[in-house]
Formats: sequence, C-alpha cells, structure tokens
Amino acid sequence: MQFSRPDCLRAARAASSFAFGLLGLLSCAAAQDSADAVERGRQLFMSNGCYSCHGTVGQGGERSAGPRLAPDPHPFEAFKAMLRNPPEGMPRFDARFVSDDQVLAIHRYLASIPRGRAARDIPLLQP
Ligand code: HEC
Repeated sequence: MQFSRPDCLRAARAASSFAFGLLGLLSCAAAQDSADAVERGRQLFMSNGCYSCHGTVGQGGERSAGPRLAPDPHPFEAFKAMLRNPPEGMPRFDARFVSDDQVLAIHRYLASIPRGRAARDIPLLQP
C-alpha cells in the first residue's frame, strides 16, 4: 500500500509510541523512494519519446504505432533487449543515450501502471 507523504507523516505523528512512530517514518521514506523512482521513469518515458508511439501510459499507439507496453511489461532483461536491438519499426535506444539504470526506471514506471477494470465489471458495457 502506498500513502502520500502528508498522509504518512500524519499517520506517523498519530502513532502513540515512539517505536511505532519511527516505523511509520521509515515506511514513509521507502514509499516515497519508490514513488520517486516511478516518477523518474515516467519522465524518461516522456523525454525519450516512448510515449509518442506507445501512448502516455503505455497503452499502445493508434494505428499500430507501437504495441501496448503496460500493464505487465515484459520482464526487465527482455524489455531492455527490445531497446538495444529493437524489432523493425522501433528506433534503437543505445546505452550511450538511455543507460541501463534509466531503462530500469522506465520499466518500473510501466510496471506501476495498474490494470484497468475487466469489461465484465463495467456496467455500461453489459449487453
Ligand atoms: C517511433 C516509434 C517508437 C518509439 C519512439 C518507441 N517505440 Fe517501442 N516499439 C515501436 C514499435 C513499432 C514496436 C513493435 C515492433 C514490432 O513488433 O515489429 C515497438 C516495440 C517495443 C517493445 C516490445 C513490445 C512487444 O511486446 O513486442 C518495447 C518493450 C518497446 N517498444 C519499448 C519502448 C521504449 C521504452 C521506448 C522509449 C525509450 C520506445 N519503445 C520508443 C515503436 C516505437
């Protein structure tokens, strides 16, 4: 579960004992770290132009510009291999321009995108 920073701090302050307060603060820091990593990945996904073919949330581009990447992106090594030696139709992203670390951040961003609701759970789509 992730909390926004103010929620975390409030919860930590509200904790009655010092030990619980400390625990709360530590988990806030961890949640904030991973939120920062995801945000960094989102920015890299935008600044490297991935979004222009794959959609801003990796949903896939129109008219087959680029396939869907999220939710559930390929495992990291396979994902990275696609950037280094892309299939036809996708530009190559060499490590000199997008480092392994940056690819990892992009992957974390895509992995953080939640799955949408199933069609059978959306009343408007029912026959
Ligand atoms: C100019 C358009 C374009 C851009 C920009 C682009 N891609 Fe792609 N990408 C494609 C196309 C087209 C394919 C599918 C090629 C094929 O299957 O023949 C693809 C395939 C992929 C795949 C493999 C998906 C699969 O299921 O086969 C991954 C992963 C991927 N792209 C990631 C990225 C990332 C990350 C970026 C940004 C760093 C990026 N792409 C930028 C067009 C693009």
